[in-house]
Amino acid sequence: MTTSRLLLAIESSCDETAAAVIREDGTVLSNIVASQAALHEKFGGVVPEVASRAHLERILPVIDDTLKAANHKLTELSAIAVMTEPGLVGSLLVGLTAAKSLSWSLGIPLIPLNHIEAHIYACEMQASETIFPCVGFVVSGGHSNLYDCRSATDFQLLGSTIDDAAGEAFDKVARILDLPYPGGPSVARLAETGDPAAIGFPRPLLHDKRLAFSFSGLKTAVMYEAFGVPGSHKSVPELTEQRRADIAASFQAAVVDVLVGKCEQALHHTGHKTLCVGGGVACNQLLRERLQRSSTKRGYRLELAPGDLCTDNAAMGAIAWRLFESGKFADWNLDVTPGLVRAGD
Ligand code: KG4
Ligand code: ZN
Repeated sequence: MTTSRLLLAIESSCDETAAAVIREDGTVLSNIVASQAALHEKFGGVVPEVASRAHLERILPVIDDTLKAANHKLTELSAIAVMTEPGLVGSLLVGLTAAKSLSWSLGIPLIPLNHIEAHIYACEMQASETIFPCVGFVVSGGHSNLYDCRSATDFQLLGSTIDDAAGEAFDKVARILDLPYPGGPSVARLAETGDPAAIGFPRPLLHDKRLAFSFSGLKTAVMYEAFGVPGSHKSVPELTEQRRADIAASFQAAVVDVLVGKCEQALHHTGHKTLCVGGGVACNQLLRERLQRSSTKRGYRLELAPGDLCTDNAAMGAIAWRLFESGKFADWNLDVTPGLVRAGD
């Protein structure tokens, strides 16, 4: 019988408690995600204290469930991988403490992972060949980051947002339009019945040379469109169902134009012929279609993270095997890094 090593990956950086068992060849044997969306919905966004308490309650049952689903025991593991950056400090600490405890008690290596890099690696998990070198784009609730990815262990940040992330803008626009959290899927759903050309929202920084994003002004433009400019006596049209849908569709079209344009700019800047896109906003159907069209027109290879691996999960912790090969293990001083740190800094 051939034996293949196994590792347990843990993810708790934001509001998903997740664990996966992954074989050395990259096969994901189990992938459990306990979402906290229902807990945060009434606040319209993630409340850090609520998130860390919920992680604390869920982490051990989630690890237990993922081992059972994989039909393996703790003692069969060869390593523990854990996302230690970036994210909410309290949330990250729950995952790290569980990972350290398991690694210490089982006497197996501890592998720290960068959550953002793992989002890009998710694109390799169903690709027929390696994605590297590539431009990696992580577009999520907390990040809109473009990377020059030279290898699985060498990611250089090219640019990010100077204010709100793309997913954050979707979440805030959902609040303006009185739609449920998380905002991305609900705005996208409402946009299906709207006219994307109804309102000419700005395309922030689209024609700027910098590889940077800014979505805060766009969110304000949506607010003014919906409720009028404060202090102005100009009347605004009634916020009918059709108008809400038109605003959603026009907002989504503006965000997608910017995201696609900046990816094209990053490909041109680096000279890479492959683009990999992951993170929650990569679930967006319009974005996926527009990127497909762009790749056909411009002749680059596009690898989108599979739908179920776009939002936060631990299966994308499969990148840990690449770090395992190069002996990138941590010692007991390993700590969390909540803010974004550039790979290589
Ligand atoms: O990657 P993720 O699960 O968590 C972070 O690391 O932030 O991304 C969550 C974000 C949320 O802002 C959510 O509104 C957005 O991804 N999102 C979407 C869609 N599905 C999720 N945004 C636009 N369209 C979608 N279909
Ligand atoms: Zn994420």
